[in-house]
Amino acid sequence: MTTHRTAGEEGPRPLLNRRLAEFGTTIFAEMSALALSTGSINLGQGFPDTDGPEEIREAAVRALRDGRGNQYPPGPGVPELRTAIAEHQRRFHGLEYDPDTEVLVTAGATEAIAAALLALVEPGDEVIALEPYYDSYAASIAMAGGVRVPVTLRPHGPAFRLDLDELRDAVTDRTRLLLINTPHNPTGTVLTRAELAAIAELAVERDLLVVTDEVYEHLVFDGEHVPLASFPGMRERTVTISSAGKTFSFTGWKVGWVTASPELVATVRSAKQFLTYVSAGPFQYAVAEALRLPDAYFDGLRDDLRAKRDLLGEGLAAAGFTVHRPAGTYFVTTDIRPLGETDGFAFCRALPERCGVVAIPNAVFYDHRDEGAPFVRFAFCKRVDVLEEAVARLKSLAP
Ligand SMILES: Cc1ncc(COP(=O)(O)O)c(C=O)c1O
Repeated sequence: MTTHRTAGEEGPRPLLNRRLAEFGTTIFAEMSALALSTGSINLGQGFPDTDGPEEIREAAVRALRDGRGNQYPPGPGVPELRTAIAEHQRRFHGLEYDPDTEVLVTAGATEAIAAALLALVEPGDEVIALEPYYDSYAASIAMAGGVRVPVTLRPHGPAFRLDLDELRDAVTDRTRLLLINTPHNPTGTVLTRAELAAIAELAVERDLLVVTDEVYEHLVFDGEHVPLASFPGMRERTVTISSAGKTFSFTGWKVGWVTASPELVATVRSAKQFLTYVSAGPFQYAVAEALRLPDAYFDGLRDDLRAKRDLLGEGLAAAGFTVHRPAGTYFVTTDIRPLGETDGFAFCRALPERCGVVAIPNAVFYDHRDEGAPFVRFAFCKRVDVLEEAVARLKSLAP
């Protein structure tokens, strides 16, 4: 491949531009390849090993056969899905959104995050994100030319907590928006009503926009999920993002959505229309049905994952890890120091050979890599027999 020099630079010019230079290949690709080559149980990447409800799969098949969604659906999403999203926000959170002007369907939450940042951020604007952060945040901020300002969640007793003073101190005249994630990947922290109220007050006082990623809204085991948009003064400044991937165990369908004021939805749509324009036509009809499933479905999903959290958490504790019990999501963050280890990268690279399990070093989710060094994340969205086998294998680590 030919590369070209830029005036004033030594050596060949790299193909990947500067904005993305730090985002080569993700750790997930490396670890998943390691899982395959060593026959390990992959508790690295966060996708379920069982598909979602059969009737929802059938709904997708029906849509495909009936010719619903096989051609470009409308830009904002099919009306059936937009209506179902608005109903869902009312049913679970008491929030009213107009399906025609205040809902936008996206290619997963990932596209919603990228479109929101590309549309709202000017080069040089500061974006405050909770560290450790889901990896696409950093890349999306970079693509928008924004400046990432991490505020670190630190362990306090069993959970990781946000320091509200640190968050306040991080706001400057250049801050454009707060990028919030609750329930939080990878720590499993669910921000409390009091913490969210403080974030809301700060956003109003400093006139900040808020993008909030709530894809784990239905996976809360302790406490409650309260949408940021429900706090005073927040509805008009908040872009709320969610997706069908985690709630319905169809991560491959990539159906996500934004709910926000008409002005914010129109702004995000301006970027979204040139990223994918539209996606997942037939799946949109199926997700509309999924969002209307009875409460028993949502309760069952949560109870099933709570039992899996406890199974893996107890196994990890027995193997010698300090376990930071997650209040939500399907990830558990552990501390490897009681095992005499300090470097999560080295630990995760060696783990498949040592005991046939793959995990992710949390340091990849940090700017302050040192802060994340001793933490390792395991996903528990797997079948019980798989988790039991993983626990049995991990036992060999016990000091
Ligand atoms: C916090 C968070 N946001 C967004 C996503 C991606 O969602 P989607 O698959 O709908 O793009 C994930 C997936 O792991 C996630 O953990």
